[in-house]
Amino acid sequence: MANTEIRPIFWSGENLELLDQTRLPKEEVTVRVSTYQQAIVAIRDMQVRGAPAIGVTAAYAVAMAAREIKADGHEQFMAQLDRAATEIAAARPTAVNLQWAVRRMVELAGADGDMSGIADRLLDEAKRIHQEDEQINRRMGGFGKDLIPEGGSVLTHCNAGALATAGFGTAVGVIRAGWENGKRFQVFNTETRPFLQGARLTAWEFQKLGIPSKLIVDSAAGMLMRQGKIDCVITGADRIAANGDTANKIGTYTLAVLARENQIPFYVAAPISTIDLSLSDGDQIQIEERSQEEVTHLQGVAMAPEGVEAINPAFDVTPNRYVSAIITEAGVARPPYLESLNLAVAGTTHN
Ligand code: MRU
Repeated sequence: MANTEIRPIFWSGENLELLDQTRLPKEEVTVRVSTYQQAIVAIRDMQVRGAPAIGVTAAYAVAMAAREIKADGHEQFMAQLDRAATEIAAARPTAVNLQWAVRRMVELAGADGDMSGIADRLLDEAKRIHQEDEQINRRMGGFGKDLIPEGGSVLTHCNAGALATAGFGTAVGVIRAGWENGKRFQVFNTETRPFLQGARLTAWEFQKLGIPSKLIVDSAAGMLMRQGKIDCVITGADRIAANGDTANKIGTYTLAVLARENQIPFYVAAPISTIDLSLSDGDQIQIEERSQEEVTHLQGVAMAPEGVEAINPAFDVTPNRYVSAIITEAGVARPPYLESLNLAVAGTTHN
C-alpha cells in the first residue's frame, strides 16, 4: 500500500495548520490558524469539517483562546475562557464532538487552579484529544472490519475518512481496516450533494489508499441496491441520541431506508464522543441549515435560475430502527441501543 497517511490537522508548535478541504482535490494547500476566532471561521466555512475533526480543531481553539487571555486570577481567567468557549462551541450546531471537546477543555481549566502554565497544559490536552482520535479510529476499524463481506461491496456516504478526523477515519477507517487485513471488495461512494464531500474528498482518499471505489450520484444508490450490487452500507455520524437515532450528512436517512427495503445491513461508525446521552431521541438534534447558494450554485457558478429559493439542511436523522449496528471504539453496539450505547459510554476510560 502506498504512503497514505492523510493529516488534515497539524499543530506546528505555535499555530494550527489545516489542510483546506474547500480546495481539495484540485489543490493540497494548508491554511494557518493563529487565533481562536480564525479557528471558528475555518470550521464555519468548512475548511476543516467532519465531526471528530471539528472537535479536535475546537480543542486547539480553546487552547489558543487561553494563551491570549490576560487575567488576574483563576476566576477572571475562567470568565474569559468561558466566553471564548461559548463562541467556539457555536461554530456549527449538529456535530456534538465540537461541544464535547470544548467542554473537556473548559472542565480541565476549571479544575486547574494553578495559573502558571495553564495555557500550556490546555495545549497538551488539545494534543491528547488529537492523538486519541486517530487511535480510536484504528480501534473502530478493528471492530468493524469483519462486517464487510469478503468479495462483496460496500457503500459509503459523504466523507467519514481521515479528512473528517485526526486521521484514518471512521466509516472509511472500517473499510480501510478491512482492506489492510487482506479482504477484497468493491467500494461505492456517493458524490454527496451539495458540498460534494464524497466526490471531492472520499474519492480522493480511496484513490490515495489504492482501494477500488466507484463514484455514484446520490440518486443511483437505490438502483444499485435493487440490482444486488451493494452488500452493506457504512456511514459516519455527527450526533447519536441515547436511543440510537443518528444524525449524519443529508441523504443518510434515504440510504438507510433503501437499505432496509433491500435487506442490506446499514452500519454507523462513530467514536463515543459522538454519542449524546443527554438527548433521548433524534428529534432533539439541531440540524444545521446552510446557505441556499450551496444548492443553487456549483463552485460559484449558478445552476438554478436567479432568484430561485432553495433549502439546504446539512444533516438528517436516521431513526434507530434502520441502524443494524453502531461501531465504536468500545465494540459493536446492537439494538436495543438504549442499553448498548449506555454500556459503551460507561465502558470507555479515555474521556
Ligand atoms: O458537513 P460535514 O462535511 O462536516 O459533514 C460530515 C459528515 O456528515 C460525516 O459523515 C460525519 O461528520 C462523520 S465524520 C467521521
